[in-house]
Amino acid sequence: QNAIYRAGIADARPTVPTDFGELERRARQAMSPKAWAYIAGGAGEGATMRANRRALDRWAIVPRVLRDTSQRSLSIELFGQTLPAPLLLSPVGAGGLVARNADIAIGKAAASLGLPYILSNQGSSAMEDVTTAMDTVAAGAPRWFQLYWSVDEGLVDSFLRRAEATGASAVAVTLDTTMLGWRPQDLNLGSLPFAQGEGIAQYTGDPRFRAIVDEKVANPDPEAESPKPSLGAIKTLVSIARNAPGAWWRNLVDKHPRAAVETFLEIYSRPSLSWTDIAGLRARTSLPIVLKGILHPDDARQAVGLGVDGIIVSNHGGRQVDGSIGSIDALVDVVDAVGGQTKILVDSGIRTGADVFKALALGADAACIGRPHMYGLALRGQAGVAEVMANITAELDLTMGLSGHTDVASLDRGALSKLDY
Ligand code: FNR
Repeated sequence: QNAIYRAGIADARPTVPTDFGELERRARQAMSPKAWAYIAGGAGEGATMRANRRALDRWAIVPRVLRDTSQRSLSIELFGQTLPAPLLLSPVGAGGLVARNADIAIGKAAASLGLPYILSNQGSSAMEDVTTAMDTVAAGAPRWFQLYWSVDEGLVDSFLRRAEATGASAVAVTLDTTMLGWRPQDLNLGSLPFAQGEGIAQYTGDPRFRAIVDEKVANPDPEAESPKPSLGAIKTLVSIARNAPGAWWRNLVDKHPRAAVETFLEIYSRPSLSWTDIAGLRARTSLPIVLKGILHPDDARQAVGLGVDGIIVSNHGGRQVDGSIGSIDALVDVVDAVGGQTKILVDSGIRTGADVFKALALGADAACIGRPHMYGLALRGQAGVAEVMANITAELDLTMGLSGHTDVASLDRGALSKLDY
């Protein structure tokens, strides 16, 4: 944080706002209305997004003094890697709505800081391309892959093989989005990211996905094959063809538009996903397994019972179930249930270094940041992402020092007081 204050003295202003409120306002101005609705929006009336903030506000830091905090370390160990700070970048699908090559920019920013980027299954660049880009910044920079479990098990295996080949250090299986939540901001604009050709980059180069589509083309379903696609459908297809990389896909969309889009919509998620599938995952990948979207302590217990390597307590940034528990409230319950038995990460509503401090003190091993890094992307691309993450890290460091703590492992609930108003 000293560097940031020194820059201030030298009259060199930060290039993105250092507070979340202004960051969000400026990012909104920089985005199209559809991109803003998709990125900033939440489920229903926004109750879960508010609950995320309320849960954080209920806990107050109680600083300690005279403890010599001149030497501090934020570093943690996670799945065999040493990270400079207990922070990761949450997976965000369809980031291409915000900026071209969004995942490349975010991946490079993460790599420049040594923080893991959890690349989305619905990313706007293929995982191989993001890996190559990250490696140009820092060879072997930590990256995770986030999986949406497809109805096609062959595709699940193919994604796992590719994630392993790109050197991912974990696979995060997202459990809370077997269907998209009720998101009025998007619905009111009639806009879904996939319909804008975003979020399908992991698929179009995938050998198993191609095989599925080829099969569908060879055996068309006469019911599904409408002779006259609507104007909207045609527009969608044209935009998908334009955005998705690869001649194979463009060619396919050209010749068999319906088959292409229907295949994608049919296979990208699996609402029937159950604990049995998770139990079988260990035998299917060598990667550490992290379950994302756990809120109930009983689910946390079940996850630990299956021997998963970690969980991410998350309500998907308030985008799935409106009226659900704030993620920090859920974190407290989950830590009480399974603390110390698996790695516990948390996201949803975390905006500042002080928020991260609270999450750690409540028992999280690390926190993930979603929208803030996307706002940095909207304002300044790769540099903006890096600056947002560096600012949160700097504020965490300062909060620790000023509260009397020198390393993250020693943070516990004794650093906080729960307010009862
Ligand atoms: C997400 N999130 C998400 N999660 C996931 O597992 N796969 C995905 O593809 C996406 N896509 C996505 C898009 C957008 C625009 C947002 C805002 C979020 C959820 C994300 O990983 C994370 O859980 C939340 O963003 C964390 O909350 P905050 O920090 O945004 O409040």
